[in-house]
Amino acid sequence: MFDSTSDADQLARDADQVPRDADGGAATLAAGAALAARLAAAEPLAGADASIIRVVHAPGRVNLIGEHTDYNEGFVLPAAIDMGISIALVPTDDRRVEITLADGGERDGFDLDAIGERRGTWIDYVAGTAWAMAEAGAPIRGFRGLLASDLPAGAGLSSSAAFELAAAWALSGGDRPALDTMRLAQTAQRAENAYVGVNSGLMDQFAVAFGRAHHALLLDCRSLEHRAVPLPAGTRLVVCHSGSPRKLAASDYNSRRSECDRAVAALRALDPTIRSLRDVTPELLAAGADRLDDAAARRADHVVHENERVMATVAALARGDLDAVGRAFAASHVSLRDRFEVSSPALDALVDIATGVPGVIGARLTGAGFGGCTVNLVHDDAVGALRDAVLAQYHGVTGLTPRVFEVRAADGARRIA
Ligand code: GLA
Repeated sequence: MFDSTSDADQLARDADQVPRDADGGAATLAAGAALAARLAAAEPLAGADASIIRVVHAPGRVNLIGEHTDYNEGFVLPAAIDMGISIALVPTDDRRVEITLADGGERDGFDLDAIGERRGTWIDYVAGTAWAMAEAGAPIRGFRGLLASDLPAGAGLSSSAAFELAAAWALSGGDRPALDTMRLAQTAQRAENAYVGVNSGLMDQFAVAFGRAHHALLLDCRSLEHRAVPLPAGTRLVVCHSGSPRKLAASDYNSRRSECDRAVAALRALDPTIRSLRDVTPELLAAGADRLDDAAARRADHVVHENERVMATVAALARGDLDAVGRAFAASHVSLRDRFEVSSPALDALVDIATGVPGVIGARLTGAGFGGCTVNLVHDDAVGALRDAVLAQYHGVTGLTPRVFEVRAADGARRIA
């Protein structure tokens, strides 16, 4: 049923994969030590004294629920995961940043005193972060670094935010950046918005900066209040990659944002105190329905109810009501598919397959949509069945090759060596 032997091989490798942080983060540490050794061998500045090498790590994230709510000042519930980006580095005093990609050996760099414009390549995440940190008044310094990632790019797992936060730590000589964690997340978001040029909300950089092992993170994107929410005992998080990349820079994301803004502007005629869709109740939305164009009405309907679903999910997790969590996931996916219109046939197929597997509590697309991944909350003993079902059915339905990752909720960006 597969196109080629290599597809089948890849699937077999994925199926064999063990969870990376089943050992409490030791795998990340071991990978960091190996990266440091490679840098010591390759970098003359490090060769003489390996003790000056530091390793920083920034995780990716998966969003449990609360999609396209962050830029509407609503609620989100992401978790940082045990896949991410690590940089082994030697700090320097020469104001020069040079990074080599461990995978492929490509090298690029820039001067901190002449950062220049966006180039349209991966170095933008580092240059943009340096630019935003300088703007925020945080001290930054040069370094020679070797970067490794096990986070698929363009999969909706926040490889950009991980790149930015890893860069922020590297630019701080491998130490905690001199900004409090929320300000650091906002500075990374500023790099993404104003330098890289993607108009995203705060969720990804927040999750990558604040991540906590075994926990999801509830964020109120207006007040910026947040708290860690324990993940239920006896459950696992499984990410299914649709094999079709997500295109976040695409104009679709920005057009959804402006449709939301259009809804707010129209509803303000009914209630001038409204600042964002966060302030809109289902009742107000119903009362203002005839003032909204079709698209604005559907987008607003999604956001208003998605905020309710986040709070319902947090309450259900607190009382251990996993059926209610599953219902919220299902309703979120349907709303993203039919109201916000950011799903795809591939993501719908992954959710359909997962929903048919006994022991899967909930399944929905995660992140911006338009391709990328689904997140699945699964009873411990159902992980294998979910993997088997996806590997057996998905390619036949879509013609695409899936990847299945069991992930653990992990700590945020940090120095690991
Ligand atoms: C992307 C953006 C986030 C958020 C999600 C959708 O991941 O970077 O800010 O808007 O999409 O929830």
